[in-house]
Amino acid sequence: MELLKSKIVQDGKVLSDQVLKVDTFLNHQIDPPLMQAIGEEFAMRFKEEGITKILTLESSGIAPSMMAGLVLGVPVVFARKRKSLTLVDHLYTASVHSFTKGETNEVSVSKDFLKKEDTVLIIDDFLANGQAALGLLDLVEQAEAKVAGVGIVIEKGFQPGGEMIRKQGIRVESLAIIASLENGEVKFVEEAVT
Ligand code: G4P
Ligand code: NA
Ligand code: NA
Repeated sequence: MELLKSKIVQDGKVLSDQVLKVDTFLNHQIDPPLMQAIGEEFAMRFKEEGITKILTLESSGIAPSMMAGLVLGVPVVFARKRKSLTLVDHLYTASVHSFTKGETNEVSVSKDFLKKEDTVLIIDDFLANGQAALGLLDLVEQAEAKVAGVGIVIEKGFQPGGEMIRKQGIRVESLAIIASLENGEVKFVEEAVT
């Protein structure tokens, strides 16, 4: 997605060979017109899949998911990282290990919002090691719902998550795939023109 790639080049900060900071439009401040374009792009790519629900993870997955949900006309559910007071049982729960942060967290979603009849599009802001996506896939599996695929705003193609999930036969659509962040420079994986 060219608009997103130019935004990454313009506003992204390469913090190391591994980490890209995109606080100006995705992870802290949010750029609504860009999120709208992202939502339209996800909706276009998945429009034939009969999606009934979008599942994401708080917090940075919510903005792009909302926009995709608006275009597809389906509800957006975000898995919670912390247990809420009103949400104590009646949950599907998965553990998500973050290699980056060196910690494991439980993510959960109410059984009310994921049903067997659902066809679910999973959306997240970043795909790195893929542990968040695996956790969300686990929640969908527990609900015995169908997975339409995984939509990612920025995939770090040099980390193993994308390959791991695609190998399971799951469709992964990433709007920008980064090949390398070496020497402070963002290099993208060139996509085939379709
Ligand atoms: P994984 O799920 O792919 O295994 O990711 P990992 O543990 O490496 O990532 C932990 C958090 O850091 C996730 O956000 C993920 O989206 C984010 N992240 C991973 N790589 C990058 C990167 O290069 N740049 C930025 N900006 N974020 C990255 P989170 O903890 O779930 O936070 P949030 O959703 O509240 O923002
Ligand atoms: Na994040
Ligand atoms: Na995230």
